[in-house]
Amino acid sequence: MKVEVTSQALTEVAVDVLILPLTEGAPAPTDVNEALGGLCAQVVGADFKGEMGQTTLLYTGGRLPARKVLLLGLGKAEKVTNRSLRRAAGIGARAARKSGARSIAFALPGAVEMDEAAAARFITEGALHGLFRLPDWKSEKKPRPEVEAVHILGGERAREGAEHGRIVAEGVNLARALAWTPGNHLTAAKLAERAAEMCRENGIEVEVYDKKGCEELGLGLLLAVNQGSREEPRFIVMRYKGNGGQGPWLGLVGKGLTFDSGGISIKPTEGMWNMKMDMGGAAAVIGAMQAIARLKVKADVMAVIPSTDNMPDGGSYKPGDVVSGLSGKTVEIRSTDAEGRLILADGLAYAAKQGCRKIITASTLTGACNIALGPIRYALVANDDAWEEEVYRAGEAAGERGWKLPHDEEYYDLIKSSVADMINGTKNRAAGTVAGGLFLMKHVGDTPCVHLDIAAVAWKSGSDEYEDEGATGVGTRTFVEAARRFAEGLR
Ligand code: BES
Ligand code: MN
Ligand code: ZN
Repeated sequence: MKVEVTSQALTEVAVDVLILPLTEGAPAPTDVNEALGGLCAQVVGADFKGEMGQTTLLYTGGRLPARKVLLLGLGKAEKVTNRSLRRAAGIGARAARKSGARSIAFALPGAVEMDEAAAARFITEGALHGLFRLPDWKSEKKPRPEVEAVHILGGERAREGAEHGRIVAEGVNLARALAWTPGNHLTAAKLAERAAEMCRENGIEVEVYDKKGCEELGLGLLLAVNQGSREEPRFIVMRYKGNGGQGPWLGLVGKGLTFDSGGISIKPTEGMWNMKMDMGGAAAVIGAMQAIARLKVKADVMAVIPSTDNMPDGGSYKPGDVVSGLSGKTVEIRSTDAEGRLILADGLAYAAKQGCRKIITASTLTGACNIALGPIRYALVANDDAWEEEVYRAGEAAGERGWKLPHDEEYYDLIKSSVADMINGTKNRAAGTVAGGLFLMKHVGDTPCVHLDIAAVAWKSGSDEYEDEGATGVGTRTFVEAARRFAEGLR
């Protein structure tokens, strides 16, 4: 998708739909209103109230170079946030597309407390998310109208913001497409190919370990989960050297479970299809690495993705088994459905042993996360308050929201085992999301580490006026912003 910033006036830009974002009570721009013979003034405050997400389409009848004008509501000025502006832009872009537009232009909103770069950034993100088509495997391809160019009316600061927004949005959309892809089309081997392809295109070094390679590395927990599968596991390591490769390294670790049946502790049929998205954390890591490289972030960033599916079979690992992996810690298996923390433990131990200074990990780890926070905020669990706060703020700044869960010592009792160093479940299902997160912390030694449990926010059911249903790519933006801030901290 082309995104262009132009200094043309509203009354000059020749596009199919000119989109005017307006807060509640704000008048339409005078020049447009005058060109349309006072039409905007009649509609604004009458049919069009400026409520968040409201759209009203006006035909210009040749009185402007733009064929139509779309009034787009932003809600109350003081309530506009990076997220609401992004959402509004997606709604506007989709409404324009629905009306047959091939080219659209956004005016920047007045009357909101956001600088030009930020406004252009979040409008661009929203437009590119709203217009994105997830891949499908239908045998008949119906021709669909597509917007080919998005213009933003603004100056130099808007240009920087729009460029940033485009790169981030492309990373998020890549993550969405990957997490949406069926498990048989995206096995661990194929996920590794896709990651490697992205790395080649963006100047990132990549190593992919196959089953034998995993054995040589000592990834016993990833291999235990893989035991019941016909598909080989992969362990993917990407290195982006934005600071010359001498470190310090930021580690990003993502759960790459290409399909989670639960294994021997098999899940109920209903909703199991959806577990093709259990590599949403890995997808966010891949999308973020692409964006980090394209933004030329001045930090060294290492990304680690353990990948396999989780299947029942005569050879599967079983409840009661005791297994261990790269960290050397032993784990008593209580549920083969708590597989994510196992493969991540190997990924995290690898990142820590490679000397990463700080680590962030994202995964669709626990259903309990949906009980605790619902599909609104992801959960953060950490071993270091300061690093957790930094990641939390990076998420907010990038338009993703999290919530910090506790990590008091007593919570570690939830994962105590009488035969091994820990269990992979939680006693009495208490504090499931905290237990899952603290399990991970047991494998990073002293390295500051923050875990994002994106289980409830990685998927949205049903398309709406903003975005299509399916994988959301959440996590990607937090990773990118945290990497930018990590880079700033080095200077
Ligand atoms: N992939 C699931 C978690 C999940 C659930 C993600 C729903 C997205 C939507 C994970 O592997 C899992 O099965 N977790 C178990 C852990 C339990 C056995 C301790 C869960 O949440 O039930
Ligand atoms: Mn599971
Ligand atoms: Zn899982």
